[in-house]
Amino acid sequence: MTEDFNVKLVEDVKTYTPDPQYRKNAWMGDYQKAYSDFQKDPDGFWEKMAKELDWIKSWDKVKEWNYPYVRWFVNAKLNITANCLDRHVNDSRRNNVALIWRGEEGRERIFTYQKLLNQVAKFANGLKKIGVKKGDCVCIYMPLVPEQIIAMLACARIGAVHSVVFGGFGAAALNMRIQDAGAKVVITADITIRRGKAIQLKGIVDDAIVNAPSVEHVVVLRRREPMVDLHEKELDFYEMMEGLSDECPAEVMDAEDPFFILYTSGSTGKPKGIVHTCGGYMVGTYYTSKYIFDIKDNDTYWCTADPGWITGHSYIVYGPLAVGATVFISELTPDYPDAGSFWSLIEEQKITIFYTAPTAIRMFMKMGESWPNKYNLKSLRIIGSVGEPLNPEAFEWYYRVIGKSRTPILDTWWQTETGMHMITTMIGEPMRPGFAGKPIPGVEADVVDKDGNSVKPGTGGLLVVKSPWPSMMRTVYKDDERYRKYWYTINGMYAVGDLAVKGKDGYIMILGRADDIIIVAGHNIGTAEVESALVSHHAVAEAAVIGKPDTVKGNTIKAFVILRVGNQPSDKLKQDLLHHVRATLGPIAMPSEIEFVEKLPKTRSGKIMRRVLKAKEMGIDPGDISTLEE
Ligand code: PRX
Repeated sequence: MTEDFNVKLVEDVKTYTPDPQYRKNAWMGDYQKAYSDFQKDPDGFWEKMAKELDWIKSWDKVKEWNYPYVRWFVNAKLNITANCLDRHVNDSRRNNVALIWRGEEGRERIFTYQKLLNQVAKFANGLKKIGVKKGDCVCIYMPLVPEQIIAMLACARIGAVHSVVFGGFGAAALNMRIQDAGAKVVITADITIRRGKAIQLKGIVDDAIVNAPSVEHVVVLRRREPMVDLHEKELDFYEMMEGLSDECPAEVMDAEDPFFILYTSGSTGKPKGIVHTCGGYMVGTYYTSKYIFDIKDNDTYWCTADPGWITGHSYIVYGPLAVGATVFISELTPDYPDAGSFWSLIEEQKITIFYTAPTAIRMFMKMGESWPNKYNLKSLRIIGSVGEPLNPEAFEWYYRVIGKSRTPILDTWWQTETGMHMITTMIGEPMRPGFAGKPIPGVEADVVDKDGNSVKPGTGGLLVVKSPWPSMMRTVYKDDERYRKYWYTINGMYAVGDLAVKGKDGYIMILGRADDIIIVAGHNIGTAEVESALVSHHAVAEAAVIGKPDTVKGNTIKAFVILRVGNQPSDKLKQDLLHHVRATLGPIAMPSEIEFVEKLPKTRSGKIMRRVLKAKEMGIDPGDISTLEE
């Protein structure tokens, strides 16, 4: 890894300073002051945030740190849905709009806070009726429709642990997640709609629940007429709610009770089930939605992620609803019905806060600025980015073409594991293209060498977090060893797994992953997952995959494959392999290139040296190859 540290920092020449009104009107106010308040009294800082929310019983202690395990808001009781729904309903905001959904062909659905609460309560009663209890795991595999969010909130209402799986995963990936979590119920839909076409979801669930004995019921949202037939174990989403009360008491949860599991790629073939807990996650996502996004009552907030990712969990569902925001969601893709679809929605809905990913921004750049220029984007006041580094070119374009050289850009660095924003440039602070920014108040992040020493400005190193924060993961489901590794790799700190550079004044530039994870169009893909999918094909003996830089997707996947004796390389076989990966892991993990090879570079101990493959592919120096076998 060390050779990656030889980063020469191109000192940023440009700094953009937003209108002082931004800072003046922001919930956060002055960053320096907020950060030093936090430093003076970290627990007091978080306690103050927690007190803005409703608790059934208050905590005995803010934090108990027993390295590497933490408990936040010790012995406090709460239910997050009481904060996301009831708090607003009881506070004369019941008729405020919680959710606006936009489908294709102008279809729109609007939920006030009252209506959302009623639906959540009814569905929660439905789940209870089929036997779901506090602590049971429910897998949600749905398209981006309001019912996906209703299902999540209904689980939270009754204390069931949800595991949301993004609708783009294939049957084997879904099966692995259902099995690992021991899901009792799977909630799905017949179809998802992509670019005017219906894509089967339920068929994938049918395949995924074979060999998943824990599954007792499958609840199906039937979107299409004529409705698909339901078989044994299967129930209709709305029929399950029929005749049930629209009131459901919120289950009393301990602050440290498990809240949800969300799988993320790791450096082995098996995804990690990241476990978040109730109290800390609520406080972290509430705090950042309010103070980082600066959400106000008259905002219409749009995050283009899917609730199936952590971005959607934290910044479509729980954080924004906890602050009482009006959340816009859409099933439309950025290029359908045409390349203006997102901009037309911003104009139509008068979106004020827009949060998207660098891969989308680079795709917009490629499609040309004539598309956004056709629409009135004046309503925007804050634009955000997440998922991978926002390179300076993309920053400049986003700032000029979408933000009209006026709106601040929030480039937010965080992870599934962190639960909430960790590093960004706060509203009103000077922005430096290429730099995400500084740790937010509440977070102690730094760039260090492999021994944990803070690096000098202008130097690269490993990104770490030096002390616990409320919304951090508590464990990796059924694999606590993998959790401990995050905290034991670098001397008592949380090792993020990203390489970064420290600039002047503490601004941090994120370079990308240091481990075997490739970020493709914003999705984390483990090299090992794709390799084992390839090796599970009968013709493949061995495989190695690398990420190749791509101007739009950030990276694409290239696979090197050694065939088993008796198989000949051919285009047909390449297609078969691609199809196989797609069916196993889903379209998001498909290699864009496959090369058949006779040998793979390996260390003497037999580890594939992907770094050597990558250097060769890109025509650069492979660095230290002393461990390469002859
Ligand atoms: O490498 C970093 C990158 O995404 C990783 C986390 O991925 P995931 O758990 O899927 O969560 C994505 C959404 C929060 C990080 O380790 N990453 C995320 N945000 C940024 C980023 N890299 C650079 N800049 C960012 N703003």
